[in-house]
Amino acid sequence: MTTPLRRRQVLGLGFAALGTAVAAPAVWNRLQRSASSLRPATLASRGGVAELELLAQSSRSTIPGGPAELLTYNGRSPGPLLEVKAGDQVRLRLRNGLNQPTNLHFHGLHIPPTGTGDNVFLTVPPGGSTEYAFRLAKDHPAGLFYVHPHQHGLSADQVFGGLGSALVVRGDLDRIPEVAAAHESVLVLKDYASSGGQDAAMGVGRMLGREGRLLTVNGEINPELPIPSGGLLRLRLLNASNARIYRLALEGHPLVLIATDGGAIGTPEPLKELVLAPGERADVLVQGNQTPGSYRLLNLPYRRSGHMGMGAAEERPRTLATLRYAGAVAPLPLPQTLIPVAALPAPERTRRFVLAHAMGMGGMGGMNHAMGGMGGGGMGMGFQINGQAFEPDRINTRVQLGSTEDWLIVNDDVMDHPFHLHVNPFQVITRGGRPESQRRWKDTVLVKAGEEVRLRVTFRDFPGRTVYHCHNLDHEDMGLMGVLQIEERGV
Ligand code: C2O
Ligand code: CU
Ligand code: CU
Repeated sequence: MTTPLRRRQVLGLGFAALGTAVAAPAVWNRLQRSASSLRPATLASRGGVAELELLAQSSRSTIPGGPAELLTYNGRSPGPLLEVKAGDQVRLRLRNGLNQPTNLHFHGLHIPPTGTGDNVFLTVPPGGSTEYAFRLAKDHPAGLFYVHPHQHGLSADQVFGGLGSALVVRGDLDRIPEVAAAHESVLVLKDYASSGGQDAAMGVGRMLGREGRLLTVNGEINPELPIPSGGLLRLRLLNASNARIYRLALEGHPLVLIATDGGAIGTPEPLKELVLAPGERADVLVQGNQTPGSYRLLNLPYRRSGHMGMGAAEERPRTLATLRYAGAVAPLPLPQTLIPVAALPAPERTRRFVLAHAMGMGGMGGMNHAMGGMGGGGMGMGFQINGQAFEPDRINTRVQLGSTEDWLIVNDDVMDHPFHLHVNPFQVITRGGRPESQRRWKDTVLVKAGEEVRLRVTFRDFPGRTVYHCHNLDHEDMGLMGVLQIEERGV
């Protein structure tokens, strides 16, 4: 069912580089890199086992107008699509061909945060490799997840540089007949610095979180999304950008939401616009019931700061992709219902997390690297949760395994912060005091400047140490992260 978008631009560049090359070392390097860009675009599990390998390395850019070099998995940015099933045993070898440490995070998966699981405290040194291994529960929700580096202090550089892969877990939602009948495309939304390198000069630096001016879908500029008249298109959207918040709209068509970060919702919900912060995913159906033609998938202006003059939105809509009618089929209906999202138990306690930034001279853990690009005569800026910047060895929050809590996320800042929790999905209970329209499984929620969001989470199955943080990865690297210890009761 998965339809890869056209790859002509990507492959075209790879072949052009071959020329009449002789194997001089530099040319040989290039040959190897070109060859690696031809590795499969999808890596899938077979017979209940996923044996996957990702090689992180710097590669010549495949993006027209993009930076000269990109950070790639297996020669690709975004990396190959990974596809597994609920119940699968997953073994993923990460080989580090970068000149700096890296690691992996399995964003949104409900797996242990310890050992060879979703352990973001592991580090793979340059030239090293490690194997992540875990089993997905048989009842793991189907959905779109995200594999990306989580090396503190370097996460933003590495993701902005190009690293990240979408991860599809097949399961319950995929078996709903109307959903199964839809044509499916995974769309990885990622922005890149443009080759001119003016991005830094555009006031889109680390404090706001770096945005690139080149907007791509699966590493392509304005790809085509074919739809037959009468057909259903399932768009699985991942915001794999470092800091850009998308505001999506499709000309002439509602986006019918069927799943959020952590899986299906109860009832399809047609949306005129869809805001997607870094790390968030949305699964939408598009019905091919309009006059055949071309319709643009747009990114509408979004202002990510309430502060005057900061984070000013681009003032015009940008085209991300184009829906194009081709052929016709007997009209396919939308599903009426999906998968119920059960209410979580009443919370045993409520905690408050205040997100803010602080300016000052030093004294902010892990700031020096991140501040490199900011200048400012020794002044530093850091981000904090409840007055504390991230320290890998300090546990900020201890919770009991099996307990349910409400977390009140208070954005006391002039910038928006997408708040993200590892390992356990949550439900948003209220936003600015107002209840959500329906229950959804989330792991990342946009908390706008000055806003408060109440979320509810049950810490199920897996004890251990993990993190919560802002998914504007520049903010994360500058300290907007806390350590969570999930403790077994009575220990
Ligand atoms: Cu996708 Cu800790 O992040
Ligand atoms: Cu995550
Ligand atoms: Cu932030």
